[in-house]
Amino acid sequence: MVVTNVFLFFFDLSTRFLGLISIYYQILYDNGARKFAVFGVPPIGCTPNAISLYGTNGPPCVDILNQAAVLFNEKLQQLIRELNKSLIKAKFTYLNPPGAPVDIEEIVKMGACCKTGGGAGELCVRNSKPCSDSKKHIFWDGVHITECQMEIMAQNAYSSNNTHCASPFNIHKLAML
Ligand SMILES: *[C@@H]1O[C@H](CO)[C@@H](O)[C@H](O)[C@H]1NC(C)=O
Ligand SMILES: *[C@@H]1O[C@H](CO)[C@@H](O)[C@H](O)[C@H]1NC(C)=O
Repeated sequence: MVVTNVFLFFFDLSTRFLGLISIYYQILYDNGARKFAVFGVPPIGCTPNAISLYGTNGPPCVDILNQAAVLFNEKLQQLIRELNKSLIKAKFTYLNPPGAPVDIEEIVKMGACCKTGGGAGELCVRNSKPCSDSKKHIFWDGVHITECQMEIMAQNAYSSNNTHCASPFNIHKLAML
């Protein structure tokens, strides 16, 4: 029930947000921007905060939030295709933020570097001891991903030839156009 409301909230927000994005890209274009690499939304239902806040009822992540992200990304890609046509001098490419097909169970298992789930919007439980090796974790805290994961994402965005990661091309190719 609560999660359904959250879904509707994100859905409504995403429609308005895409309208704004479209205007901002137009402004950037008018100011001379010609190459756009656009990141989609990652599986937000797998963050430790989402899981402790909404619960999952069985599956590893909050499915409805991940579905909202997928819907948003579909609309975002549609917008990119439209802008790629209407802003004739510009080139767009879409980047899938995890940068690879995600293993949801693995994300949840690797979890956060600090203790999460303190409630009241706390990102790490106050005074809890952080992990010794952040490379072994996806998240720093309840929401933010670690530098190591950021690096993997950036490498994929820059050089991956997998169209699941970068479509129609990666940032390296975009830069060479
Ligand atoms: C943009 O248009 C070009 C051709 O004009 C096409 O090759 C490319 O795939 C399009 N990109 C997107 C993101 O639709
Ligand atoms: C992607 O393809 C280009 C050109 O074919 C190649 O130079 C590059 O090494 C490839 N990237 C990866 C990550 O394999």
